[in-house]
Amino acid sequence: MNIAMLGSGFIARFYAESLHAQRRTDRITSVYSRNLENAKRFADDYQLQHHTDVMQEAINREDIDVVLISLPNHLHEAAVAECVKAKKNVICTKPLGRTAAEAKRMLDMVEEAGIFGGYLEDLCYTPKFLKSLESVKQGSIGRVLWAKSRETHPGPHSDWFWDKEKSGGGAIIDLGCHCVEISRNFIGKNVKPLEVMCWADTQVHPIDAEDHAIGLVKYANGAIGQFEVSWVFRGGMDLRDEVMGTEGTIWINSFLRTGFEMFTTGKGEEYVAEKAEVNKGWLFPVGDESHELGYPHMFTDMFTAIEEKRDAQETFYDGYVVNAILDAAYKSAETKLWEPVILEDWRGDQPEIAAKEFISYNEDYYLIKEEVLPNGDRKLILKHKISGEVIQKTDS
Ligand SMILES: NC(=O)c1ccc[n+]([C@@H]2O[C@H](COP(=O)([O-])OP(=O)(O)OC[C@H]3O[C@@H](n4cnc5c(N)ncnc54)[C@H](O)[C@@H]3O)[C@@H](O)[C@H]2O)c1
Repeated sequence: MNIAMLGSGFIARFYAESLHAQRRTDRITSVYSRNLENAKRFADDYQLQHHTDVMQEAINREDIDVVLISLPNHLHEAAVAECVKAKKNVICTKPLGRTAAEAKRMLDMVEEAGIFGGYLEDLCYTPKFLKSLESVKQGSIGRVLWAKSRETHPGPHSDWFWDKEKSGGGAIIDLGCHCVEISRNFIGKNVKPLEVMCWADTQVHPIDAEDHAIGLVKYANGAIGQFEVSWVFRGGMDLRDEVMGTEGTIWINSFLRTGFEMFTTGKGEEYVAEKAEVNKGWLFPVGDESHELGYPHMFTDMFTAIEEKRDAQETFYDGYVVNAILDAAYKSAETKLWEPVILEDWRGDQPEIAAKEFISYNEDYYLIKEEVLPNGDRKLILKHKISGEVIQKTDS
């Protein structure tokens, strides 16, 4: 694939490192940046044929198969509109929109134009996530009851993130989009998110948006998603997921504790890992950040999907559902009530009352709990199916 990169900032560079690593054949051939000097620097760094400060020039080049949007949130929609005009496949970084309405317009535009719309939700492509999702799908942890995801760090690196109008919000829109989609994958994308309860506050920074939030997302099958996001967390970037099911549990730590620990007096290089706050003492570097963050698997899926004329694992539709959940979170943070997730376009299963299946011990009793005690006794807690009486039974 020949790729046109829109933007030359933080994420554009991360993407470029990943795309041009390890003899990959897909290449960025053109870069657009509003500042020609930055475009040239980016083009020189990654040996690109073309750079420009006119967005359409990068998109419209004949060799371009796919356009990669790495621009601030308030520019995603206009950039998608340009790709639609040029009938070029488009892949867009997260969050898709600042609101569900914005995301829906982007979704409709690409679908009407018949072009590919891939949602670059990298944290749903990390090796640990992909392996976990496979285990969940194979039933290793049974019915998923609770899927919690956390992203916290000391705050983003550019002015526009801190401007509510441009970003669409604070930590919820910036980090919550990852967490919501991670939980949604584990619970099942076909399961309808129904309502959200969210606490949000501006605890530290002098900004209009929230810098810390916690939310619960209720799903139609009774499962609960939980997101924990912060721009006030100190000590690096904390990316952790926990999934609990009727038959098991998964804990994932994707960044701060990857099994790599290093002590240094600070003699060496400055950079340790994304959002690491210190470069001396005991440190937790990350071996291959792009890989740990999911970029190679993500791009492989996107480009293969374009070739095979299928949807990617993460689509513009997913981006829209995420935005709808986050809209409800923002509303709940204000009203302090459970707020419905408004999805005018729902493509999954129809919501149904959660079917709860209890384990039978025998014809008369349900099994509540079974445990071997320190003295070797096997204790059973049982509930009578008709009377509801709870009893215990000990086998010694
Ligand atoms: N893990 C991830 O997937 C991840 C991580 C970081 C950022 N992002 C997303 O990537 C996007 C860009 O974030 P970033 O961290 O690279 O930001 P950045 O500020 O580092 O880079 C933004 C780029 O857009 C350009 N730009 C800014 N304002 C512009 C304007 N008005 N007109 C034209 N160009 C403009 C900048 O010059 C720069 O090239 C955001 O949507 C962000 O949410 C995703």
